[in-house]
Amino acid sequence: MPQHTTILGIESSCDDTAAAVLRDGKILANVTANQAVHEAYGGVVPELASRAHQQNIIPVVQAALSEANVKLDDLDAVAYTQGPGLLGSLHVGTSFAKGLSLARNLPLIGIHHMQAHILAHFIDDDAHRGIPTFPFLCLTVSGGHTQIVKITDHFEMKVLGQTIDDAAGEAFDKIAKIMGLPYPGGPLIDKHARNGNPDAFAFSRPKVGDLNYSFSGLKTAVLYFLRKQVAEDPDFIAKNLDDLCASVQHTIVQILLSKLKIAIDQTGIKQLAIAGGVSANSELRKQLLALEDELNCKVFIPKFEYCTDNAAMIAISGYFRFLKGQFSSLEETPSARLPFG
Ligand code: KG4
Ligand code: ZN
Repeated sequence: MPQHTTILGIESSCDDTAAAVLRDGKILANVTANQAVHEAYGGVVPELASRAHQQNIIPVVQAALSEANVKLDDLDAVAYTQGPGLLGSLHVGTSFAKGLSLARNLPLIGIHHMQAHILAHFIDDDAHRGIPTFPFLCLTVSGGHTQIVKITDHFEMKVLGQTIDDAAGEAFDKIAKIMGLPYPGGPLIDKHARNGNPDAFAFSRPKVGDLNYSFSGLKTAVLYFLRKQVAEDPDFIAKNLDDLCASVQHTIVQILLSKLKIAIDQTGIKQLAIAGGVSANSELRKQLLALEDELNCKVFIPKFEYCTDNAAMIAISGYFRFLKGQFSSLEETPSARLPFG
């Protein structure tokens, strides 16, 4: 075992090209190139994402290495996102990681993107609110996933419930699109909601069993409601944008927390974490923190830059795999629907 362990992490599962350098659990550099090309389309266009990854990957890796002041010779392994995600996008990061692994004789480590969102909590960073101990529950909320996960070890995770249709981030983005906001709409709804009344408009909550979620009904409810209102007043959305955003955000957060509270009750686990892009949402963070007093829980929220897609979470996951000697082979292929666990 070398004196220090230095891991290069690569993330290219959706529309962000990212590279990070991690040494012994601490992040030395965390670089992300966002792809503005999708804004005009109201959503990620997979083919354009793959092409942008191709353009970005080498400069992003070079920027991360130079910011970390680390040379290729200093690396001990290369970790990359193997899935789930957009297949063409995943291929870019995978091919790059495999090429580097072959050229520099570096161990290769394929990482599950959703597990990595959770493992971001273990990045050794002073700004954290501490690190959760096992077992803990994680509400994993991104553009593609909404899950309640029980974590008993770094790589022992069980999905207790998940969305049966749209993800929470997708609901934010699709409803934002209905209101005429550009992609990705989640952060914009969050911004407008700060000036709005969360009780201005009431939208019905889904009735799905167990710990599962559903968000497509909310999207349809907002669509029909706005169609009716706009028919009567074409300026309805512009006049009520802040209140609409606050009401939609409030509904999504209430749906997310209602099932999480049931999971806390069923498992008796009082340590709660949050992960994925939607965990950047200010209302969700606030409501979650309120559970500390309400249910005597301890809540862990990652630093903002480790919430949305990033390569730091891939590097920390790679670090834990490295310590266990769990490496991937060059034959392994990326998977759009990589199974959990
Ligand atoms: O984890 P992530 O970066 O990418 C995926 O793996 O999907 O999550 C992206 C999602 C998008 O749907 C985006 O709108 C949402 O996270 N998001 C937010 C906020 N910031 C990002 N949703 C609500 N409020 C935010 N502040
Ligand atoms: Zn993600």
